[in-house]
Amino acid sequence: MNISVTSKPPTSFPAHILDVSIGQKILMAVTGFIAFGFVTGHMLGNLQVFIGQNQMNSYAEKLQSLGPVLWAIRLFLLTALVIHVWFGIKLKLEAWAARPVKYKNADTMKATLASRTMIWTGLIILVFLVYHLLHFTVRVTHPEFAALTDPQGRPDVYTMVILGFSSVPVSIFYLIGVGLLSYHLSHGVASMFQTLGLNTEKWQVRLHRIAWTATVILFLGYASIPLAVLTGCTLLVPGGR
Ligand code: HEM
Repeated sequence: MNISVTSKPPTSFPAHILDVSIGQKILMAVTGFIAFGFVTGHMLGNLQVFIGQNQMNSYAEKLQSLGPVLWAIRLFLLTALVIHVWFGIKLKLEAWAARPVKYKNADTMKATLASRTMIWTGLIILVFLVYHLLHFTVRVTHPEFAALTDPQGRPDVYTMVILGFSSVPVSIFYLIGVGLLSYHLSHGVASMFQTLGLNTEKWQVRLHRIAWTATVILFLGYASIPLAVLTGCTLLVPGGR
C-alpha cells in the first residue's frame, strides 16, 4: 500500500505516534554517540600497549583506582547500551510489522547495505561484547589471566592482551567483531547526524566521508593489536620488552 502525506497530519493520535518514533530515534542517536565516544576512548587506551608494559599497566591501574567513579561510568555506559539495543530492536520490529511484504522500490535500492543490516551487525557486536567481557574483564574464559602480575606487582593487562591474541581463532573473532563494529558505525554516525538535523543536503557527502574516515581509523586502531600479535611484531612481547 502506498501512503502519501499531502497535507498536515491530523493532530493527537497519529502526530503522537510520529513524536514518539522521532523521540526514540533521538534516543538512539544520543546513546549511539555515547557508545561511539566510549569505543574511541577505549581504542586510544588500548593503543598504549604499543608504548609498552609499564605504560599499559599503569593506565589500567589508574582506571581501576577510580573505584566508585569507574562504577558510575560503567553504569552510565550500560544504561546507554541497554537503551540503544532496546529501541534498536523495537524500531526494527515496528518497521517490519509496518512493511510485512518485501518491497522493491527505489528507496530500498538507495539504502546502503550497512543501513539495511544494522540490526544484524548490532546483534553480532552484542555477542562479541559479551565474549570480550568474559575474556578480558571477568576472565572466565581464561582464569589464569587474573593471576598475571608485572614486576611492580600490578595486574599485567599488557601480557594478558598479548596472550589473549596468541590464539588465532580468538584473534580472528576479534577482527570480525571490530570489523562489524566499524561497519555498524559507518552508517550509525551518518544516521546520527541526520536524526539530529545536522545532515543538510550540502553537508550530506561531507558527513558521510567524516563518518567513514572515523570508522576506518577505529577499525585500524583496534585491528592493529591482534594483527601485531599474530604477525609476531616485536613491539608486543609477553612479559614486556
Ligand atoms: C583489539 C580490540 C580490543 C582490545 C585489545 C580490548 C582490550 C580490553 C581490555 C584489556 C579490557 C579490560 C581492562 C581491565 O580490566 O583493566 C577491556 C574491557 C572492556 N572493553 Fe575492550 N578491547 C578491545 C575491543 C573492544 C571493543 C570493540 C569494545 C566495544 C564494542 C570493547 C568494550 C569493552 C568494555 C565495555 C570493557 C569493560 C570496561 C570496564 O570494565 O570498565 N572493547 N578491553
